[in-house]
Amino acid sequence: MGKKVLAIYYTQSGQMQEIIDAFTSTIAAPDVTVEKVQVHPVTNFDFPWTGKRFFSVMPDCVMGNPRPLQPYTLNENKYDLIILGYQPWFLSPSIPSSTLLQDEKFKAVIKDTPVVTISAGRNMWLNAFDKIKLLLADAGAKHVGNVALVDRHSNPVSFVTIFYWMLKGKKERYLNIFPKPGVSDEDIKKTAVYGEIVNKHLLSGNWEGLQQQLVDKGAVMIKYPLMVIEGKAKHIFKAWAKIIVKRKNQLPWTEAFKYYLFIALFLGAPILLTLDAFLIRPFTGKQIRNKKKHYLLLN
Ligand SMILES: Cc1cc2nc3c(=O)[nH]c(=O)nc-3n(C[C@H](O)[C@H](O)[C@H](O)COP(=O)(O)O)c2cc1C
Repeated sequence: MGKKVLAIYYTQSGQMQEIIDAFTSTIAAPDVTVEKVQVHPVTNFDFPWTGKRFFSVMPDCVMGNPRPLQPYTLNENKYDLIILGYQPWFLSPSIPSSTLLQDEKFKAVIKDTPVVTISAGRNMWLNAFDKIKLLLADAGAKHVGNVALVDRHSNPVSFVTIFYWMLKGKKERYLNIFPKPGVSDEDIKKTAVYGEIVNKHLLSGNWEGLQQQLVDKGAVMIKYPLMVIEGKAKHIFKAWAKIIVKRKNQLPWTEAFKYYLFIALFLGAPILLTLDAFLIRPFTGKQIRNKKKHYLLLN
């Protein structure tokens, strides 16, 4: 009997759609049907963003507060595999992605079903991934694989270029000096290789070893400095979110958060990494290896 695959995702710029197209190009086969569904919020997050709107969604992202999605139609009640494409927003799953995973209709569909996640962010996806894993576990899904795509340029460079992209709406080189933002065209194309691996497991019905094979092909890479920064930032973002949600007028607080973020990235992060290099990294080799493994694999 033919296999049925659902690839479901949200995207603003179209980047995730391109990724899903490339990734599923090698999963689809004569005996494999791939149904692609893009979800849309009832009230759209307009793209490009304005600076104010961009920061205003931080508390809801971090708290995982859902916002209604437009009704969506699925051809089947059950699938042999579900591919979930999502993007991190403020170190958490984007609001439409976390809403989807809290939607009772979708939870019923992914229950007891193998799920492969694929994320496409700037470079900080670890905490969002932890949250996605919790949401999948809560829905009773079987998480069998993960691909994490990032902008491979340095942290400060990708910070500048993503703002150009998000605020201008163009995935282009800022001032013709900076590199193109987001996931590179090569990395998007390469997802077809990950798709081939997924296809083999889908046809055999045995998901054992899938994640290790994806990792061996470079589907997930962990940069230690980013893991350190995100490890600290997730607590700080949560504290900010908790303060901001209690305010009647949140705007001045999200503005303050914006300035905090700039200072944290360009001043706080280098200090944190220097301290870590002397005081923590030399003495915590095993913990670091375990933490990397936690993010590379699905444990
Ligand atoms: C509000 C907002 C917050 C974001 N926060 C992060 C983040 O914390 N980490 C990260 O790696 N990328 C972050 N990004 C980049 C997105 O993950 C994503 O790569 C980009 O929005 C393009 O996705 P799309 O066009 O498929 O929707 C953020 C983007 C937005 C719009």
